[in-house]
Amino acid sequence: MTSKLSHILKDAKSGDHVADRIREYDRRYGGAARGGPDERKTDYRHFENTYYDLVTDFYEYGWGRSFHFAPRVTKESFAASLARHEHYMAHRLGLQPGMVAVDLGCGVGGPAIEIARFSGACIVGVNDNEYQLKRAEKQTEAENLSHLVHYLKCDFMNVEAPDNRFDAAFSIEATVHAPDKAGVYGEAFRLLKPGTCFAAYEYCMTDRYDTEDPYHRRLKADMEYGGCLPDIPRPREIDDALRQVGFELLDARDLAAEAPPGIPWYRPLTGSGLSFASFRSSAVGRRLTHGSLWLLERLRVVPRGSSHVASLLNLAAASIGEAGRLGIFTPMYFIHARKPD
Ligand SMILES: C[S@@+](CC[C@H](N)C(=O)[O-])C[C@H]1O[C@@H](n2cnc3c(N)ncnc32)[C@H](O)[C@@H]1O
Repeated sequence: MTSKLSHILKDAKSGDHVADRIREYDRRYGGAARGGPDERKTDYRHFENTYYDLVTDFYEYGWGRSFHFAPRVTKESFAASLARHEHYMAHRLGLQPGMVAVDLGCGVGGPAIEIARFSGACIVGVNDNEYQLKRAEKQTEAENLSHLVHYLKCDFMNVEAPDNRFDAAFSIEATVHAPDKAGVYGEAFRLLKPGTCFAAYEYCMTDRYDTEDPYHRRLKADMEYGGCLPDIPRPREIDDALRQVGFELLDARDLAAEAPPGIPWYRPLTGSGLSFASFRSSAVGRRLTHGSLWLLERLRVVPRGSSHVASLLNLAAASIGEAGRLGIFTPMYFIHARKPD
C-alpha cells in the first residue's frame, strides 16, 4: 500500500507546489462558511484545474478510472456496476459503430473507453484539465482504442468544434462544474446534428433537501467545497436550462430513487469497505490513506500538502455519503434531451 501511496502527487507536483496550491484552493474557494458560488463561477476554470491537478491521483487510487457513482445490485462487483451505468448511457443514446459522440468532461477517459468498446461508436472526450487528458491518452493507448477514442483539451462552455458535428452528446457527473447550466447545455445543443440527442447524469439536490435546515445546508456547502462545485442545482433548474437552449426534454428522472434493491450508490463512501475493491474509498480506508500520507509527508516521500488534499477529499466523501443516505442529494439525475430537426 505504501508504495502505491508514494505514487500519489508525484511527477510535476513536487516540492512545495502541492502545499501552495491546496492552501490557495482553501483561501479562495473555502473559507469559514466554505465560500459562496460567486468566485467559483467567475473563476471556474482556475477553480476546476487547481482541484483536478491536486485530486486526480487520489481519485484513481481510491476509485479507479471512471470518476462517477453507480447503483449496484447485490453480488455485482463495483467495477461491473460502474460499467453498467456507462452502458445504460450508451444504450439510451443508441450509440453504434459509425456514430461520433462527444463526452463533455471526460475525466481520465474511463467512461469514453468503456462506451467506445461497448458500442463501437467513436467518442471524443472533452476536458479542460491537461493532467487528466495525459492520463486518458495513456490509458486509451494501453487499451488499443486510439482509433475510436480521441480527446480535445478545451472548456466545455466553449468547445473547439464546429456546429452540428456530433451524432450524440453525453456527460457523466461533469456539467455540475459549469458556472451556468444553460451555457454548457447550449454548447451540447450547438454541437449536435439536428434530430440527435444529449444525455447526462447530473448532480442535484432532491426535493428532500430543506434550505431551512442548517445541517442540510452544511452538507451542501461541504460537498461543493470538497468536490469543486459552484452550486449544486435542483432538478427543476436543469430541466428549465435544457428547454431554454432549445432542447426537447424526452426523459428526466432520478435513477437513484428507482434503483433495484441492492447496494446504494453512496455505500462505498459510508461503509467500512465491503470488498477489497471498495476498501480504499470507505471511511476506514480513507482514514488509513490519510494517516499513511501524513507519515510519508514527514518522511518526505510525498510532497508537503498531500495529507491536506486527502482531508479535502475525506470531507467531500463524508458529506456526499451522508447527503446520499438522507436522500437529499443524487448524482444520477438522468436527463435525455433531443435537438429538434
Ligand atoms: C467528476 S469528473 C467526471 C469525469 C468523467 N465524466 C467520469 O465519469 O469519469 C468531472 C470532470 O469534468 C471536467 N470538467 C470540469 N469543468 C470542465 C470544463 N469547464 N470544461 C471541460 N471539462 C471540465 C473535469 O476536468 C473532470 O474531468
